[in-house]
Amino acid sequence: MKKQKLIVGQIGCGKFAEAQDFPNFKKHPQTELKWCCDLNLTRAKEMGKKFGVPNVSANFMDVLNDPQIQMIKIATSHEVHLPIIEAAAAKGIHIFCEKPMAMEQEEAFKIIRIVRRSGIKLCVDFNRRMAPSMHALRTKWLEHSQNPEHQPWRYWEAQRPPMAEEETSHMMITVQDESSSYAVHHMDPLKGGGEIIGETVHWLDLACWFFAPQRPVEIQAWGSRRLSHGFNLKFSSGDSVTLVFHCSGTFDYPKEMYQVTSNAALFRNLFFVENEYYGIPGAKKEVFPMQHDCMKDEVPEDGIHAYMKKYLIRAKGIAGNSKKYEYTKPFIVDKGHYSMLCGFVDAILNDKPSPCDEMAGYMATYLAQLAIRSLDFKQTIPVPLEMITPVFI
Ligand SMILES: NC(=O)c1ccc[n+]([C@@H]2O[C@H](COP(=O)([O-])OP(=O)(O)OC[C@H]3O[C@@H](n4cnc5c(N)ncnc54)[C@H](O)[C@@H]3O)[C@@H](O)[C@H]2O)c1
Repeated sequence: MKKQKLIVGQIGCGKFAEAQDFPNFKKHPQTELKWCCDLNLTRAKEMGKKFGVPNVSANFMDVLNDPQIQMIKIATSHEVHLPIIEAAAAKGIHIFCEKPMAMEQEEAFKIIRIVRRSGIKLCVDFNRRMAPSMHALRTKWLEHSQNPEHQPWRYWEAQRPPMAEEETSHMMITVQDESSSYAVHHMDPLKGGGEIIGETVHWLDLACWFFAPQRPVEIQAWGSRRLSHGFNLKFSSGDSVTLVFHCSGTFDYPKEMYQVTSNAALFRNLFFVENEYYGIPGAKKEVFPMQHDCMKDEVPEDGIHAYMKKYLIRAKGIAGNSKKYEYTKPFIVDKGHYSMLCGFVDAILNDKPSPCDEMAGYMATYLAQLAIRSLDFKQTIPVPLEMITPVFI
């Protein structure tokens, strides 16, 4: 039987769309790109030609006015999400929206209401919650939390029962990034909002997904809303997440590492290519293929050491102007972008819940705003229950 296809319009054809959206829509057997739209028409034409998309425009209404369009992807700067969502929902078009869904709480509330009243589905691209390695990490952590098994050599003070804090889990996220690569509009308070609103929403979402059904109860943040900062987020059963995000780092080292400690065990995710588990009898490390690995022929292995070896060979090759190692050949770890698209297409075609819906979009924006408030006032800020379970008429 021929599979049903969703007809898609891409709105915003910048760097991200080129690296992820266009290749992922092309790869997916149930999506067909019909439009690409960008304020910069030259760019839209360039992307249309590169990816074989038949229609181009500088006006997103041209896309929405096409009665065949069933889904759009928004990958513009952040300030135009609301008007595009409003116009698309009015025409019953499903929306895959880049993060952050909104820059402000009120804007997020409007989006929730629009989506619910129109009956369309919306998915926010908080892709890390869909990364295969992150799913594996959470599965192992859940298994151990529910049924802890310990190494026979585990040290344990037999004189006392465990203390309450010893039964909570903690996630440490370290991010080091080369901020000179950030376009200035991502830092513009009106168009991008800076790195807490624009990027740290990823880790706020991941924290909420990882520790669900617990709810966040308080947040403390420090540093700069625009560049380097950190937060500590506590959950209702006592689990917590600390993020340290340095913007003065280098691409020469993997950007992200995740460490979860729980009940005398350690679960590590090394830049989405390797998971290591310690303190659990028989637990073996797992390696995960990259999303795009142009170095696979040269270094066929997966995992963190193989990744670094491949990176170095490629970087030296590019520096030496070798044709073989062009920047244009993709070399990207699997952070879950394609899995998120697959989940959303499945949700639309089979009427299932969105893999990352408008409430998740709101939650990350709201927590990001509380984090900014916390660093402004140098105080821990409570997360009121009624604000993360809003009711709309
Ligand atoms: N999920 C992720 O991991 C991830 C990674 C990088 C970027 N992003 C997101 O992708 C989005 C785009 O980022 P980017 O780095 O590609 O930025 P970019 O500046 O390269 O691209 C944005 C494009 O949107 C276009 N645009 C702006 N307003 C428009 C409008 N009203 N109609 C049509 N086009 C419009 C601009 O002309 C530009 O070409 C941002 O929301 C960013 O947060 C997500």
